Amino acid sequence: MSTHPEKLQTPEKQTRLIRHFEKSSIEEHNNAWTNLWDTDNSDMWDRGKPSPALIDLIEQREDILSPIAVDGRRKRALVPGCGKGYDVVMLSLHGFDVVGLEISAKGVSIAENYAREELQTPQAYNFGSAWVNKFERGSVSFIHGDFFQSSSVKGERFDIIYDYTFLCALHPTMRAQWASRMADLLVSGGLLLCLEFPLFRDPSLPGPPWPLQGVHWNLLAEGGDGIVYPPRPDQQGKTGSFERKWYIKPERSYESGKGTDMLSVYKRK
Ligand SMILES: C[S@@+](CC[C@H](N)C(=O)[O-])C[C@H]1O[C@@H](n2cnc3c(N)ncnc32)[C@H](O)[C@@H]1O
Repeated sequence: MSTHPEKLQTPEKQTRLIRHFEKSSIEEHNNAWTNLWDTDNSDMWDRGKPSPALIDLIEQREDILSPIAVDGRRKRALVPGCGKGYDVVMLSLHGFDVVGLEISAKGVSIAENYAREELQTPQAYNFGSAWVNKFERGSVSFIHGDFFQSSSVKGERFDIIYDYTFLCALHPTMRAQWASRMADLLVSGGLLLCLEFPLFRDPSLPGPPWPLQGVHWNLLAEGGDGIVYPPRPDQQGKTGSFERKWYIKPERSYESGKGTDMLSVYKRK
C-alpha cells in the first residue's frame, strides 16, 4: 500500500486538522502548529514533493523569473511556512539563494536534514520538462521564527516570495497582516508568487485550510482585509501594494488542487 504523503491528504485528515484548531484561540495558533510537528502529524498537509506548478513557471518564464538579476547578483527568495523545505531546495537547485521560515523548531530540523540529503542527490521531482542546467545552485538556509515578527527576518528583503498553503493555514483575521508583511519583505518590483489553494472549498467552511476564493485579489490588489465571506459592500477608493501581473491555471499541480489551483504573480509596487 502506498504511504506517499500526498495520498494521505484525505478529507478525514483535513477534518482532523480543523478539529485541532477549533480547540485553540487565535493567539494559540502558533503553538497549535508546533504541537502538530512535535506529535508527528505533518502528514496532514505534507505533499511529499516540491510544487510542480512553481517548477514549470520558473523553467518556462526565465524572462521574469531568472535567478540572476540584471546587475548580475543572485536573487534572494523566501518561503514562509516552508514545512519540510521541498520548495526551498527546489528553488536553490534552480539558482536562487533561498531562505525557508518555519514556526516549528522540529520542522526546521527536519527541513535542514531534508536539504542536506536532497542537495547531494536531487530527485527527479525537482525538475520539469523545460529544465536546463545552466545556473549554479544557490544557497539554502532555514530560520526558526514567526513570519509576523520583524525580528525573525532581520531587515532582509527578497526578490521573490513563494506562498503555498501558508495563507490558508492562517486564521482569516491574520490576512491583512500577512499582506502587509509580504509588502515589507519584498524589494520594490519584487514578485509574490502564490499557488492559490484551496479554491474549491465552500467559503463558509472553517479551516485550516481556510477557503481562499477571491482572497489574494482582495488583499493584494484591492488593499482589503481579505475577509471576503460573507460578501460585504465594496470598499471604494482603496488600492493594495501589489499589481497582479499574471494569473495562470497551471498544467501541473498537486493532486489535491489539480484543476482548481491558480498560480498568481503579484508585483510589489
Ligand atoms: C499547511 S503547512 C504548509 C507547509 C509547506 N508550505 C508545505 O507545502 O508543505 C503551514 C506551515 O506554516 C507553518 N506556520 C504556521 N504559522 C506560522 C508562522 N506564523 N510563521 C512561520 N511559520 C508558520 C506551520 O508550522 C506549517 O509548517
